[in-house]
Amino acid sequence: MLARARSFERGAGDYERLRPEFPKQLFDDICASAGTRMHGRMLEVGAGTGRATLPLVRRGATIEVVEPSTDMVGVLAGRLEAAELSQQCDLRQAAFEDVDPGSTYDVVIAAQSFHWADPATRWSRLSSLLRAGGRAYLFWNGWRLASQMHDLEGVRALYLRRGHGLQHDVEDHRSDTGWAESEIGTDPNLELVDARSYEWPWRLDVDDYLGLLRTTSQYSVADAGFREPLLNSLRGLLGDQVTLQGRTRLLQIDTHDAPDRSPHRHS
Ligand SMILES: C[S@@+](CC[C@H](N)C(=O)[O-])C[C@H]1O[C@@H](n2cnc3c(N)ncnc32)[C@H](O)[C@@H]1O
Repeated sequence: MLARARSFERGAGDYERLRPEFPKQLFDDICASAGTRMHGRMLEVGAGTGRATLPLVRRGATIEVVEPSTDMVGVLAGRLEAAELSQQCDLRQAAFEDVDPGSTYDVVIAAQSFHWADPATRWSRLSSLLRAGGRAYLFWNGWRLASQMHDLEGVRALYLRRGHGLQHDVEDHRSDTGWAESEIGTDPNLELVDARSYEWPWRLDVDDYLGLLRTTSQYSVADAGFREPLLNSLRGLLGDQVTLQGRTRLLQIDTHDAPDRSPHRHS
């Protein structure tokens, strides 16, 4: 896990070039749901190159960002500066675990990052960082190979022979939030109040698709001695263009101690 989390120490340029954006509708929905909280104190966990940071800042938010990777922080700082938005972002090279436990926030954002936070403490930490009435938005992008365009049985067979445990994209395992949905209840102060999905078609050149896979932690830490032959064979199976079905999954989490909630919910 640690080695995979550290894989984000390098490759921020490829990450920024090859990873998909989040749908605009997702940010519109977050703004509508957050309401006046958007102008309150906001924390973003693991911002990477700013796939979520810039759209939120452009919608008027001021964000305190923690991101542990030097490489990611460098790219994000450059993007904010180029967009003249640096003043709306307090960017700190740090992990979620480093956030001052005495701070409280109106909104906490984690885009494709919450699974990297320490599983033993992530929910209690989230709970204590959200002020009464605060909201958290956790979201992930995922994709799967379009069944009508690609030989999925061929892909499965290739990974069985030469996958060395790497996951193929016949199923979308990245935006599957079942693990988080079942973990949220482990903190008595947190409640999952909304879960929704955004579907988007995506077509890209095969080399960009293979590059995209290399930006994911499991491929990036895999031994190139078996990863590259695997990806070469995959190229042969998929052809020049790859058609994916993309999906973004958004979870909205509230605190039980919201001022407008009945006090005996605590008992
Ligand atoms: C898949 S990237 C997501 C980046 C960006 N939020 C996005 O959606 O494109 C995961 C990010 O989480 C960061 N990360 C890993 N462990 C973390 C931790 N314990 N606390 C905060 N961020 C962490 C990584 O450095 C990486 O930038």
